[in-house]
Amino acid sequence: MEGVLDHLMRDLLTQVGGYDLCVTEFVRVVDQVISDKAFYRSCPELIDADVYGSRTKSGTPVRVQLLGQYPQYMAENAAKVIELGSSGVDLNFGCPAKTVNKSRGGAILLKDPDNLYQIVKAVRNAVPSEAIVSAKIRLGYEDKSLAIENAQAIELAGANELTVHARTKIEGYKPPAHWHWITKIKQSINIPVIANGDIFQLEDANKCREITMFSDIMVGRGALTIPNLGQVLKQEAPIMPWPEVQALLLHYTTCETYGDKSKYYPNRIKQWLKYLKNHYQEADDLFGDIRALKTTEAIQDIL
Ligand SMILES: Cc1cc2nc3c(=O)[nH]c(=O)nc-3n(C[C@H](O)[C@H](O)[C@H](O)COP(=O)(O)O)c2cc1C
Repeated sequence: MEGVLDHLMRDLLTQVGGYDLCVTEFVRVVDQVISDKAFYRSCPELIDADVYGSRTKSGTPVRVQLLGQYPQYMAENAAKVIELGSSGVDLNFGCPAKTVNKSRGGAILLKDPDNLYQIVKAVRNAVPSEAIVSAKIRLGYEDKSLAIENAQAIELAGANELTVHARTKIEGYKPPAHWHWITKIKQSINIPVIANGDIFQLEDANKCREITMFSDIMVGRGALTIPNLGQVLKQEAPIMPWPEVQALLLHYTTCETYGDKSKYYPNRIKQWLKYLKNHYQEADDLFGDIRALKTTEAIQDIL
């Protein structure tokens, strides 16, 4: 999740456990090949990928996600991330951001199945046959009329997996997610379909899996709302109690980061608390206590 789920958060949440795969925040591809340095910044897990594979410290594979509109440049960058050791390449056709859509990237591509096909095909041809090419879509841009056609185009072009966020672009993040559409898509293609959208607790996952013929599940916001959601959904552990969440928050502020640590953590902790407060009342209270604090140290004192 762009601006939210970076490599530090991936490290932290996969250390807690329950996740089989992480996808990076999207890397925007326009009309050039991105530098190694930029890929390493988005995905530091690539740095020692030749030794460990691209994995978080606790061993969960990490896949780089690309977002772009030109088949040639998507292909060249896909080839590069695979060469750098990424655990496959994921293509983002779901981003609703205005700036991205205006420059014909993300969800706007869902209006044109042939364009999707061209991008996925170019990427497929550019990477070794054993490299996983996955794609992420929404159900459409304005409406769902092309949902099946888009999924079929992605399969026909040679993708190995498809994640479906069960809403259109204009539905934004407004509940509900239309899980039954994931089933329709699943019945129309033969590659694995991964269900996404509004899975915040075990009951949601069970219902979604029932509706979608036992699809695997991808979580976004829920992973930040309940830090051990992966374990909860696999029924490996109960929901993490607040004192453990608080300890995790404190641990988070001690991790090494890039750039200015003094700005990074105050912003990120406040952002994380906004997700946490959807489940933990204590997070709301804590947010009130630290809202005005500007340094990591001051926040650590409260924690
Ligand atoms: C702040 C934010 C950033 C996101 N960034 C990305 C991204 O970079 N790549 C992506 O595939 N999806 C991104 N998403 C979408 C989520 O991955 C997910 O599809 C969506 O939130 C629905 O799933 P959820 O209900 O489990 O959150 C983002 C969502 C949010 C709220």
